[in-house]
Amino acid sequence: MTEVQSRPKWGTKLGIILAVAGSAVGLGNFLRFPVQAAQNGGGAFLIPYFISFIILGIPLMWIEWAIGRHGGLFGHGSAPFILNRLWKNRVTKYLGTIGIFGPVVIFIYYTYIESWLLGYAFFAITGKLLLIMTAPGMKDFLTVYQGLAPGSNVWTAYLFFVITFGINFYVLYRGVEGGIELLSKIAMPILFLFGLIIALRVLTLGTPNPLHPDWNIVNGLGFLWNPDFSALLNSKVWLAAAGQVFFTLSVGIGAILTYASYLKRGDDVVLSGLSAASTNEMAEIVLGGSIVIPVAFAFLGPMGATEAAGSGAFNLGFVTMPLIFNQIPLGQFLCFLWFGLLFLAGITSSVSLAEPAVAFISDEFSLDRKRAVKILGVVLFLLCQLPIFFLGQGVVDELDFWGGTFCLVLFGTIEVVIFVWFFGMEKAWEEMHYGAEMRIPGFYKPIIKYVTPLFLFFILGFWFVQQGLPVILMHGVSSSLMPYVVATRLGLITLFAAIAILVRIAWKRKKALGLVE
Ligand code: ALA
Repeated sequence: MTEVQSRPKWGTKLGIILAVAGSAVGLGNFLRFPVQAAQNGGGAFLIPYFISFIILGIPLMWIEWAIGRHGGLFGHGSAPFILNRLWKNRVTKYLGTIGIFGPVVIFIYYTYIESWLLGYAFFAITGKLLLIMTAPGMKDFLTVYQGLAPGSNVWTAYLFFVITFGINFYVLYRGVEGGIELLSKIAMPILFLFGLIIALRVLTLGTPNPLHPDWNIVNGLGFLWNPDFSALLNSKVWLAAAGQVFFTLSVGIGAILTYASYLKRGDDVVLSGLSAASTNEMAEIVLGGSIVIPVAFAFLGPMGATEAAGSGAFNLGFVTMPLIFNQIPLGQFLCFLWFGLLFLAGITSSVSLAEPAVAFISDEFSLDRKRAVKILGVVLFLLCQLPIFFLGQGVVDELDFWGGTFCLVLFGTIEVVIFVWFFGMEKAWEEMHYGAEMRIPGFYKPIIKYVTPLFLFFILGFWFVQQGLPVILMHGVSSSLMPYVVATRLGLITLFAAIAILVRIAWKRKKALGLVE
């Protein structure tokens, strides 16, 4: 087997672990996780969460690292061509198309939301957020910023979007080692430092409101973590836990396999994959679990915290948190750290969402990486206009559903089935252990072969009936939003078809050159 030398490679082992951890640690850890936990049984949520982590998250992490590294040896960094190496079948490359389409769809809205964080970090440090003292005032500020309030416009948000988009593409343009790896090595330690400072401050808040002695941080932690075991009998809790594990680890997206395609043949995947996953869990459980909900409880009490958790991750992050910081000494600085932390978590994830498409264009059309980044930059810049100008019309929810929920679980299932069933478990096991610095415990073999795929089928089926079908049939969509939802779906079908056609063209080209079988 001759290694394709012209592809970029990671500079250091720490660099790739931090890059994958950077892809994983995102808004999901600090906003989505605490809301999911609070809404799904508190501490009891951790039981299905850890079961899903062990039988879905860790195996998928290893699988994506192993198949990515395998594909990279043959010069492929994106799912259509990587999966086809594992299972040579006419449909494989089209199934793999989901691994480019999904992350692109997430990128389109994720980057816009990430840019709000940059904007809010700016408003925090300049003291603008400090002037707002009420929840309606903070909500108004957000809707004016988003251009959704009557008479408001989107141009301030647009400016921060252009800056955020520019930073993303500058990093991508600088390449794997000089861009993504460098960003991760700088951003990840800063992010943990910011998270630690905020968590320590929150945990030492005690009882901020003397009128309510039982509204304190210890009870706030109890509110989040005291188990409600009856929640375990509810299948929705299990679905939510599995969905959170996918989202937070960035598995099933297509991003990690592209990152792993820049590994060298002998590079370890077992310990590195585990390290990246553990880093993510530390950010999720330790930092994510000790900030927003406990602090919301201490300031707003049990009713207020329940309401805040129920109002969704964005409301919690952009409305509740700045209001609370406004009541703490050094709040201006802490509020800046909060949005700075979220922005860094966001940008290390968003570059990973664009990378599968960069790898596809440069590997499969034999284009110089910088040219590939420029082409993708123009296309994604145009696509990103949609969530900016149609935010109030439900476009982000649509993109999040298809890109951030449906494709994730579907693509995760496809990868596992192709690798362990069609490529074969024995070969898969050998591939994962090539160059490994630790052996995967033997009991994981039957788990990966049977439990992981079957659990995924089960989740996919349950999820489809409980949540997928009502969304597909547009239950609850108001008639005024209906045309936008339909238009977004048609747009997504067109985008998928366009990527699939490009995959086909690239395929034919490579076949003519004798480079694919
Ligand atoms: N894994 C990323 C997050 O948690 C996408 O936000």
